[in-house]
Amino acid sequence: AEPTALPRDLVGRKVVVSAGGTREPLDPVRFLGNRSSGKQGYALARVAAQRGAEVTLVAGNTADLADPAGARVLRVGSARELRDAMHAESAGADVVVMAAAVADFRPVALSDSKIKKSGQEPAPIKLTTNPDILVELVRARPAGQVVVGFAAETGDATGDVLHHGRAKLGRKGCDLLVVNAVGDGKAFEVEDNAGWLLAADGSETPIPHGSKTQLAVAVWNAILPLLDSCAR
Ligand code: CTP
Ligand code: CA
Repeated sequence: AEPTALPRDLVGRKVVVSAGGTREPLDPVRFLGNRSSGKQGYALARVAAQRGAEVTLVAGNTADLADPAGARVLRVGSARELRDAMHAESAGADVVVMAAAVADFRPVALSDSKIKKSGQEPAPIKLTTNPDILVELVRARPAGQVVVGFAAETGDATGDVLHHGRAKLGRKGCDLLVVNAVGDGKAFEVEDNAGWLLAADGSETPIPHGSKTQLAVAVWNAILPLLDSCAR
C-alpha cells in the first residue's frame, strides 16, 4: 500500500533533487540518451514537498510526468547543463539528491548543422568523459549539507551488489548511497531486497521491495537524522 499521511518533518529545509536522463547532443537534431524515466527522482521531490520541504527539481529527459505538487521544476538537457544547474541550485540547500541518470560520455564534437549522409561509411563518433557531478557537489558542499547519490548495480564475478555499492560510496564521498539491485544475476543477489541504503558511517540498511514512493519515503527517513538540527 502507498503511504498515506506523511509527517511534516522537512519544513524549513531546502532540497534539490535531480531526475531523468541527460541528452548529449551530436547535431541540432540528434543526441545520445538513456532510458531513465525520472520516476524515482520525481517521487523523491514529491515526497519531500509533502513533508514540507522547499523543493527544486532539476529534470533532464523524463517520461511524460506531471510536475510534483509544490516543487519548482527546472529543465536541463545535457550533463553539462545539469551540472551548471546543480551547482547553482545546491549552494543554499540542506540536501542534494542526485537521482538523475547522467551520461558518462558525450560526443567530443557538436556539429552546428545536421550531419548528412555522404555515400561513404560514417566516421565513428568520438566520445569524451562527462564531469562527475556528484563528486563535484561533494567537494563543493557547504558545511552541514547532506549529499545523496543513487546507483543501480548488478553482481558480477568481482563482487556482489553490496560490494559494488560500498566501493561506489567510497569513490563518490557522499553521505548516503541508495543502491538498487538490478538485473537477474540470481547467484549474486540477496533475495527479497530491492537494494540497500549505504551511509558514510558504514551503516547498511536493506531496502524492501516496494513502490518508488515507498523508496522515496525510506530515503527521506534516512536523510532526516543526518540533518544538522541547528541549521534550520
Ligand atoms: N553521477 C554524476 N555524474 C556523472 C555520473 C554519475 O553525478 N557523470 C551520479 C549519478 O547521478 C548517481 C551516482 O553518480 O547519483 C552514481 O552513478 P553511476 O552511473 O552508478 O556511477 P558512475 O560513477 O558513473 O559509475 P559506473 O561506471 O558504474 O556507471
Ligand atoms: Ca554511470
